[in-house]
Amino acid sequence: VRLSRPVLQLTLALVKPDAVAHPLILQAIHQKILENDFIIVTNRDLTWSREASQTFYSQHSGRFFYQRLVEFMSSGPLRAYILAHEDAIRHWRKIMGPTQVCRARYTAPHTIRGSYGLTDTRNSTHGSDCPESASRELATFFPEFSEGAWAASGHSRGD
Ligand code: PPS
Repeated sequence: VRLSRPVLQLTLALVKPDAVAHPLILQAIHQKILENDFIIVTNRDLTWSREASQTFYSQHSGRFFYQRLVEFMSSGPLRAYILAHEDAIRHWRKIMGPTQVCRARYTAPHTIRGSYGLTDTRNSTHGSDCPESASRELATFFPEFSEGAWAASGHSRGD
């Protein structure tokens, strides 16, 4: 019997253009989210401009894969989810599997990246890596859910 209520955390889950392009893979990822007991707070389909992609990945600017990543992430439609779960950031990253496709395939074949990842860039999904990134990334895709927007609407957290 669980006596305390779980504390829900939010994370951003992104389905990258390689996976959105394949309806069956997109559907399988959606199914994985449900099977792993996430609450889907909301989701949105969109296509990024090159500038939006650059800003989102600015922490990687200067790394050898930056241009490739920015190009790819603005090359086609994305699906963004707000997921809620206890320890959601870690939970989602575990279900995605390792970034590097070879590691994912050989050490975690049942993860999303292990099953559908094509390369280290075209690796099906993204997940926030810490609570600070999660709030920044969620505000990027869902500005209406950002804390600023909530405060500006005249509501307080306790409403
Ligand atoms: S790292 O190496 O720990 O910084 O990697 P990570 O933070 O997990 O993700 C970096 C993002 O860059 C994309 N990318 C690559 N990462 C590592 N190595 C190579 N060669 C590479 N090429 C591209 C990778 O898919 C990560 O994208 P996101 O969208 O954050 O998952």
